[in-house]
Amino acid sequence: MEYKFTSYNLEDTMELAENIESEKFPNMVICLTGDLGSGKTMFTKAFAKALEIEEEITSPTFNIIKEYESGELPLYHMDMYRLDGKVSNLGIEEYFTKKGITIIEWADMIEEYLPKNRLDIKIKIVGEEKRVFILEPHGKKYEQICEESI
Ligand SMILES: Nc1ncnc2c1ncn2[C@@H]1O[C@H](COP(=O)(O)OP(=O)(O)OP(=O)(O)O)[C@@H](O)[C@H]1O
Ligand SMILES: [Mg+2]
Repeated sequence: MEYKFTSYNLEDTMELAENIESEKFPNMVICLTGDLGSGKTMFTKAFAKALEIEEEITSPTFNIIKEYESGELPLYHMDMYRLDGKVSNLGIEEYFTKKGITIIEWADMIEEYLPKNRLDIKIKIVGEEKRVFILEPHGKKYEQICEESI
């Protein structure tokens, strides 16, 4: 089952992130894919704000993983864009069982390492500000989130 959400501007994208955040639980994994500038980092920033994380979320392009501990739950923000196949020594799987929430940009780069239960979100650029979000939940908890936040 796929869920479609049309965003007409940044505010719509932020609202979607806030709605999903309101259904959060420990170990939640959100996998974002979509072209450069589609809104993966904007979604993550809005999610972090809703979590009440104080630090500014910056793109973890050079670090691959950044951890933020000041919110209601820890947030592990990953960006796989510059990965170059080094995934095996990153210890990524460890994060999926920690208590925090993992959000992965360019998650399609590490498809085989992703947990079975997760929320996949594909973002398509339709116009300057228009985006289509396709949410694909894997597992009961994530299905429920989609039903309640779309
Ligand atoms: N509806 C929208 N939702 C999200 N972002 C939007 C929207 N309309 C315009 N934008 C703009 O698109 C850009 C999205 O940038 P963002 O850094 O989030 O993309 P990204 O998917 O993380 O790209 P990258 O692959 O380079 O990391 C921002 O400049 C944002 O203001
Ligand atoms: Mg980004």
